[in-house]
Amino acid sequence: MSVDAIFERRQRAGAPRRATNADSDSVIDVLTAAFATDPVMSWIGRRDAKRDQGRRAMFSYLVKKLGLPGNELWTAADFSAAALWVPPERADLKQPWWDEVIMIPTIVSFTGLTGLARVDAFRKSADKHHPKDKPHFYLMTIGVDPRFQGQGLGSAILDATLASIDAKGLPTYLESSNEKNVPLYKRHGYIVTSEFRPAPDAPPLWGMWREAKAR
Ligand SMILES: CC(C)(COP(=O)(O)OP(=O)(O)OC[C@H]1O[C@@H](n2cnc3c(N)ncnc32)[C@H](O)[C@@H]1OP(=O)(O)O)[C@@H](O)C(=O)NCCC(=O)NCCS
Repeated sequence: MSVDAIFERRQRAGAPRRATNADSDSVIDVLTAAFATDPVMSWIGRRDAKRDQGRRAMFSYLVKKLGLPGNELWTAADFSAAALWVPPERADLKQPWWDEVIMIPTIVSFTGLTGLARVDAFRKSADKHHPKDKPHFYLMTIGVDPRFQGQGLGSAILDATLASIDAKGLPTYLESSNEKNVPLYKRHGYIVTSEFRPAPDAPPLWGMWREAKAR
């Protein structure tokens, strides 16, 4: 891979745009691919031959139900990286009961019937550690095409989207689902506020908080 190609890809990730309906399939594709080996997604998700399909169904739901309506779903123009932020008014992720019902088939395709308890455990423990006292943006998900990971694209889209949140003067919160990512987030100003496992056999997550930064 040429240095120019990497540089140009990083430039595009550093100048992301808000995703539209027309982008949704490509954004769902990059997120589905990015999380293929994520420890937490792999623990929650089904473990059979339909696991990729199930993960795609979950990202499709998140993109269409949270990302596009919230208008804080960002993508690089070449779909090599994407980030889904949830704005303060929805950051507690509470949904009306009818949305919870609508979501059930998606959850079942993601986890299989036996995984419903894992989703429940994940949601309860994530909610317990999610700060509730200050309005903030929540990074629901961020992903880079596995072919281009480790080339600065994730940092570029994170920094660019954080800049727009910094301009609003608001803090942000995320859960890191992989220990590998904790240093990356620390480099962007996050501090670890919690470390928790949704269940004894689950991998750990790190709750991370970042105050707004003057730029
Ligand atoms: C996490 C992710 C968005 C980071 O984007 P990236 O473009 O790969 O990362 P960058 O090149 O900007 O930064 C490199 C840092 O990211 C972290 N990192 C996480 N996964 C990595 C990977 N597969 N390859 C390289 N670095 C990775 C490391 O902290 C690394 O820092 P180091 O080089 O000092 O170890 C991307 O690797 C990804 O999509 N991973 C899979 C999905 C995921 O974990 N999403 C976030 C869930 S909290």
